[in-house]
Amino acid sequence: MTHQHPLGKVYLIGAGPGAADLITVRGQRLLETADVVFHDALVDPAMLNWCPQATLVAVGKRCGKHSSSQAFINKRLVHAARHHAVVVRLKGGDPMMFGRADEEIGALAEAGVPFEVVPGVTSALAASASLGQSLTLRGHSRSVAFCTLAQADEADAAKLPQADTLAVYMGRRHAAHIARQLLDQGKPADLPVCVIEAVSTPRERHLHLNLGALAQHGAQDWLSDDAPALLLIGAAFGQRHQYAQVLADRRLRA
Ligand SMILES: C[S@@+](CC[C@H](N)C(=O)[O-])C[C@H]1O[C@@H](n2cnc3c(N)ncnc32)[C@H](O)[C@@H]1O
Repeated sequence: MTHQHPLGKVYLIGAGPGAADLITVRGQRLLETADVVFHDALVDPAMLNWCPQATLVAVGKRCGKHSSSQAFINKRLVHAARHHAVVVRLKGGDPMMFGRADEEIGALAEAGVPFEVVPGVTSALAASASLGQSLTLRGHSRSVAFCTLAQADEADAAKLPQADTLAVYMGRRHAAHIARQLLDQGKPADLPVCVIEAVSTPRERHLHLNLGALAQHGAQDWLSDDAPALLLIGAAFGQRHQYAQVLADRRLRA
C-alpha cells in the first residue's frame, strides 16, 4: 500500500509590479513558510530571499520570451500540492489581473486541492502612484478600464472599452494599432497618453504623448524590447501638475 501524503495548500500570491517591498505583508509571511515556490520570471529576485528554505521553480512569462506552458504549470501545481504542505505560486502584479489565475484555480479545484489567493498591487495602480496622477479625476474621468487588446479568436475582437481612463496591459507591440482603434472609436487625437515601462523598478521610464502621436508610431523607438509596458490613456494624464514634477525630480536626485 502506498502512503498518501495529505494534500497541501496552494497560495496564489500577487508579487506586485516589480519592487520587492510592494508585496503584501501576508504574501511575504507565506513566502517565509513555503516548501516550494513557482515564480514568474519578472519577479524581483530580492523577494525570493524571503524563502531560502523553499525549492524555487521559475515559470511564467517574460515579455514574450520562452516560458512554461500554462497547462504544464497547472499540472505542476497540483503535483506539488500532493507532496508539500505549502505551495506558493508567485505571480506578477495582482494574480487576478491578466494573470491566468482562473486557469490555475480551475485545475486546483478540479483536483480537489485547497487554494487561497493573496492580492497584489497591479501594475496600473503602481503606475498611477509613480506618476503622482490618479486614474480618476474629478470633472474629467469617472470610469477606468483595465484592458488589453482582444485576441483574434475572441468574438468581440473589435472594440476597446469606452471608459474615460484606459490602462492597457500587454500593449507594447500593438501600441500604434491600439491608438488607431481608439481614434476610429471616436477618441480625440489630442487625448493624453502616458506610456510607462518597468514601473517600480530601477529601469522605470515614462513617455508622455497624445493618441494621434501614438497612432503614428510615436512610442515605437522609445519602447524597450525587454521591459513590461503599460499604456495609460485619458484626459487625467493631461494634468501633469507640480506634484508629479516634484516626484520626478526627487527620483532623479535619489
Ligand atoms: C500578463 S500581464 C500581467 C499583469 C499583472 N498580473 C498585473 O496585475 O500587473 C503582463 C503585463 O502587465 C503589465 N506590467 C506588468 N508589470 C509591469 C511593470 N512593472 N511596469 C509596466 N507594466 C507592467 C505590462 O503591460 C505587461 O505586458
